[in-house]
Amino acid sequence: MTEPAKRAEARRTELDELAREIEGSPEVSAVRHDARLVFGGGNPLASVVLVGEAPGADEEKQGRPFVGRAGKLLDEALEQAGLARADIWITNVVKFRPSEPGANGRRRNRPPTGEERTVFRPWLERELRIISPDSVVCLGATAASALLGRAVKITKERGHWLEGPAGTQVLTTYHPAYLLRPFRDRDERFQQLVDDLRLASRSA
Ligand code: URA
Repeated sequence: MTEPAKRAEARRTELDELAREIEGSPEVSAVRHDARLVFGGGNPLASVVLVGEAPGADEEKQGRPFVGRAGKLLDEALEQAGLARADIWITNVVKFRPSEPGANGRRRNRPPTGEERTVFRPWLERELRIISPDSVVCLGATAASALLGRAVKITKERGHWLEGPAGTQVLTTYHPAYLLRPFRDRDERFQQLVDDLRLASRSA
C-alpha cells in the first residue's frame, strides 16, 4: 500500500470511530430523536473542507451530504472552480435533518436551532482536526456563525480569510440553496461562490 493510501485508511478509521461516538452520544440522541445521521464524505486527505448547515430530505434519504438540488448546483460551482468532489471533504454543522410538520402530512426542513448547533459543534471541530485541511469553506451564514462563534454577514465577509477554531483558515461564502432562487444578483453571486471555492483551492 502506498503512503497516501495508508494515511487515507488511517483517517477513515478515525472518522468511522467519530461517527460511532456521535451515534452513541446521549446529547446527540436528545436533539435528533430518531432522525438518521448523515456524516461528512469525500477525500479524507483533502486540503479543502466545505461545511454546510444540515442535511435536507434528499441527503437524509441517501445518507450523504449535498446530493439534492443544492448539491447539484454546488457540483457546478466546484467544476467551474476546477475542483471535484474527489478532491474535497464535505460535511455539515448539524448531522441530521432538522424538520417540522409541513403540508399534506409531510415534513419540511427548518433551520437548526441554537441548541442543535451547540451540541454538534465539538464534533465538527474533531472532524476538522482529523482531516486537518489548509482551508475551510463555510457555505452560508449558519455554518459560518456556528464555526466562528459569532454572527456573520456573508455579503460583507465573503472572500476574506478569517481565523477559525484551532488555527483553521476559514472562508465564508454563499450557500448554494440560496442561489437556487431567482433574484437580480443571482448570477453575480454564483460567480462569487465559484471565486471563493477557487481561492480556497489555491491556498491548498
Ligand atoms: N444543505 C446543507 O446545508 N447541507 C446539505 O447536506 C444539503 C443541503
